[in-house]
Amino acid sequence: MQRVMNFNPGPAALPRVVLERAHAEWFDFAGTGMSVLENSHRTKPYEAMQDDAAARIAALYNLPSSHTVLFLQGGASMFFAMVPFNAMGGGKRARHVVTGTWGEKAAKEAKTVAKLLGEPDPIVHSTKRSEGWAFASVPAAGTIEASAEDAYVHVTTNETVDGVQYASERGAALPAVKAPLIADMSSDFVSRPLDLGKFACVYAGAQKNAGPSGVTIVVVDKAWAEACRKDIPVIFQFRTAIENRSLYNTPPTLGVYLVREVARWIQESGGLPAMEAMAERKALALYGAIAESRGFYMCPVDEPSRSRMNVVFRLPTPELETAFVKAAESEGMLGLKGHRVVGGIRASIYNAVEEAWVSALVDFMGRFRAQHGH
Ligand SMILES: Cc1ncc(COP(=O)(O)O)c(C=O)c1O
Repeated sequence: MQRVMNFNPGPAALPRVVLERAHAEWFDFAGTGMSVLENSHRTKPYEAMQDDAAARIAALYNLPSSHTVLFLQGGASMFFAMVPFNAMGGGKRARHVVTGTWGEKAAKEAKTVAKLLGEPDPIVHSTKRSEGWAFASVPAAGTIEASAEDAYVHVTTNETVDGVQYASERGAALPAVKAPLIADMSSDFVSRPLDLGKFACVYAGAQKNAGPSGVTIVVVDKAWAEACRKDIPVIFQFRTAIENRSLYNTPPTLGVYLVREVARWIQESGGLPAMEAMAERKALALYGAIAESRGFYMCPVDEPSRSRMNVVFRLPTPELETAFVKAAESEGMLGLKGHRVVGGIRASIYNAVEEAWVSALVDFMGRFRAQHGH
């Protein structure tokens, strides 16, 4: 069977070994005589598997016991609303740091929720520019000031559409704030070591680095969640999911199973340091090809904020970009078209994107450039 080189932004490539293991167990999950799809979530084999999935994610991050891992539904987009519903209250102001398209959506939902709850309008710190590529950097260190009096500060650690990522080792550090820090980590979850203990809440749609769509992984500080508001429907409260160990209602069972297998694969592959090192090699190969092209390929993102997950670049004309995507497809490289809102090219190089695929793409970029006279 011929599998393509998959550069999709999400749902995205999954490790082949994960697909093989799921396939091998497809008709008989954990000796139950039925697939994981057919098991009840209120059985020992299912619960043991889900606990194992949570334990593996906690182990990957060395998560402190103050925090817990949840598997919920609704996608990251639902948490754009869940977070303010839980965390706004008492007239405290929320702050949203907007460094891209997804953070903008989160801020918009927070404004709606604030209005509904009669809470103050959140403050939005945006790096959006009025011309050219809209988002090209994270805010400079020290520019976001938040006190313990603020409801929370929300960031998007990696902006999937715009190719912008927080990376302290490159001088693009996360804001150091006293207020509870909340992160949409959808597109760089389990891609590098990070102290999740310093976040009040992290949420991530699994469909980039961590599994399939349909399951949202949430890592939450239990004490913070307990202090959140109680006058919203129970299904929206983080404490409901915590108290019921993600089993208040039916969880996305197949998705959790696949997340467990991905976490196992990451552990077997050397954990998050190995994922980070691999991401760095892949990203540097692509940014190197861009730099070498002397302007034929152009990355619009400032160097310290360039994403190790979604490498975005432009060609001299939109026509050339269309031709690039088409020619790459004919060589088995899929998913390279930039997001419809921003255009250009985007190579998503999550954990399961093989280094050989990136080498093939670098080679293709060189040949395409030569064919077009550069
Ligand atoms: C950073 C980020 N946040 C939020 C979302 C939305 O996720 P979902 O489709 O799971 O709601 C995405 C999806 O691509 C994303 O990349």
